Amino acid sequence: MGLKEELRKSFPILGRKVNNRPLVYLDNAATTQKPAEVIDRISRYYREENSNIHRGAHFLSNMATEAYEKARNSIQSFINAGSPAEIIFTRGTTESINLVAHSFAEKYLKKGDEVVISEMEHHSNIVPWQIVCERHKARLRIIPLTASGELDLDEFGNMLGKKTKIIAVTHVSNALGTVNPVREITGIAHKLDIPVLIDGAQATPHMKVDVREIDCDFYCFSGHKMYGPMGTGVLYGKEEWLREMPPYQSGGEMIKEVSFEKTTFNELPFKFEAGTPNVADVLGLEAAATFITELGYKEIASHEDALLEYAKEKLAGIDKLRLIASPREQSSVISFIFEDIHPYDTGILLDKMGIAVRTGHHCAQPLMDHLGVPGTVRASFAIYNTMEEADILVNALIKIREMLA
Ligand code: ALA
Repeated sequence: MGLKEELRKSFPILGRKVNNRPLVYLDNAATTQKPAEVIDRISRYYREENSNIHRGAHFLSNMATEAYEKARNSIQSFINAGSPAEIIFTRGTTESINLVAHSFAEKYLKKGDEVVISEMEHHSNIVPWQIVCERHKARLRIIPLTASGELDLDEFGNMLGKKTKIIAVTHVSNALGTVNPVREITGIAHKLDIPVLIDGAQATPHMKVDVREIDCDFYCFSGHKMYGPMGTGVLYGKEEWLREMPPYQSGGEMIKEVSFEKTTFNELPFKFEAGTPNVADVLGLEAAATFITELGYKEIASHEDALLEYAKEKLAGIDKLRLIASPREQSSVISFIFEDIHPYDTGILLDKMGIAVRTGHHCAQPLMDHLGVPGTVRASFAIYNTMEEADILVNALIKIREMLA
């Protein structure tokens, strides 16, 4: 299988017990656990390098600035962006999407224009667009789903036109695991010169993302879902867009010159990084990207795909358990419900047995409405999960079924 005990040992938290049982952590789509490399990198920064960046003329400030900008270069190569100017550090995917929604809308969105998103989006790729559409009197249009939980690309093609100003879709659904054909989507959109934003929060932990190959205009992701620290994220944007878009937040760092009459803005990427950045955690994010690169996406995908298939087959065999969605391409997420047991009750009982899953609407209420369920139980896998853990989940669910039937 290739998964070594050593790899699990790199994640200190995996050794702990929960409710007197060994922890079985299957809530990785919410956040992944962190390897020692990431934890140690953050700690080393505070022990040896801590200083504010881009402004001091002293040793530590220069050292921290160099480390921060090196991290930017590492993230550039991690997603194969064309230049470090295209990498903006944010607090996470949500902030990255908000930045684009607000800044892009201010310049380009007018009354009667349209923004296209899909029915499977996370709230963070719905609400910012809803707000800017309301503010600019534009219309939000929704790509519908097929019965198998995939985007209906025919409908998508039909809804595009002169009024469409931007398209924002997820790369991988956080609730269903559906992997969307993002290259095809940008191809269709660019024929009409419409820019595309991709929400990559659930993709970067599992698959190689090459923003130039996808040819997206914006790509957003979070550090904490890919073994990195909380409170870090990235916005990739093509330089031609970022140069034209107005700043999102303002203050220090993002300016060139300030007078009471007029302020001029800094060059990219600093124009979009107002205030002192989260240096320590950006260095932790770099360590996470290095961890993934050294492991290799091939190894990650082959392990996680085998685990997903194994778990899906076993779960499908449990009485009255229904798997939600069966997309052709699926990544590390299984959503399911018992026909006669509320997802929340299932989650609570699993927790008592040391198994962490997420239950509820997964920040995708419109998707739950479409599926006609109040919520689901979601098991989501990472590189450190094992077949034995899948068996523990399955046996626990069989027990719950017997208890509550
Ligand atoms: N977006 C995260 C999830 O899907 C929190 O659980």
